[in-house]
Amino acid sequence: MKIVASNFKTNHTRLSTAGFVSKVDGFVKENSIKNPIFIFPSFLSIDNFDVSSNISIGVQNGYPVDNGSYTGEVGTDALDEFGIKTILIGHSERRHILKESNDLIVKKYDFFKSNNYKIIYCIGEPLEVKTAGLEAVIEYLFSQLDGIDLSYENLIIAYEPVWAIGTGKVATIEDINEIHTILKTKINTPILYGGSVKVDNLEQILNIKSVDGVLVGSGSWKIEDFCQMTLIASNIKN
Ligand code: PGA
Repeated sequence: MKIVASNFKTNHTRLSTAGFVSKVDGFVKENSIKNPIFIFPSFLSIDNFDVSSNISIGVQNGYPVDNGSYTGEVGTDALDEFGIKTILIGHSERRHILKESNDLIVKKYDFFKSNNYKIIYCIGEPLEVKTAGLEAVIEYLFSQLDGIDLSYENLIIAYEPVWAIGTGKVATIEDINEIHTILKTKINTPILYGGSVKVDNLEQILNIKSVDGVLVGSGSWKIEDFCQMTLIASNIKN
């Protein structure tokens, strides 16, 4: 079954998140949707949500400690209180805008893995690498997997070309399939595609056999759109 994940980024308030989660849960129940669904709200909006077992609430970031003196960061003690066991690591906005280093990303990966979190680990090439050709892209993507234990059973990879994130530019079906197929020679875990996925292009992307699901930002922030996305995914058979 195809996976559908929504990354809220810096959007939605505590109140609108609660409404979103409960509406999605109601929709999923009404339509008997069984696909794995992930929602990543902002830290401030995390709560003890009562949702169907196929819906997981995760965090967009975390610091690799239980607790301690790391001003502004959040450790697992705080997440435990909400039963959070799912995290995004390596998102391009954290790599490029927040300047998170590969070392820190690997540290986070190891820590959250040792705490048995489900990890959605994001990789993706910037435009200049894409322009340099397929070989450069593959080399870049594999370098982002350096130090990452790919045999971890709770790992999901998200391939999100940086030039396609929030830009309205989607990779072509052929490009997505080519990259996913190459990644699958090395990776045994599900691989999601992300980057300007919308209700309108979702079906086509999910129909690619090498795509196990999608990680969606802006296209998922309207409740109706995200509900629609879960329904589209539930109708895909391969
Ligand atoms: P986008 O973001 O759907 O807005 O392009 C995707 C992501 O960053 O996960």
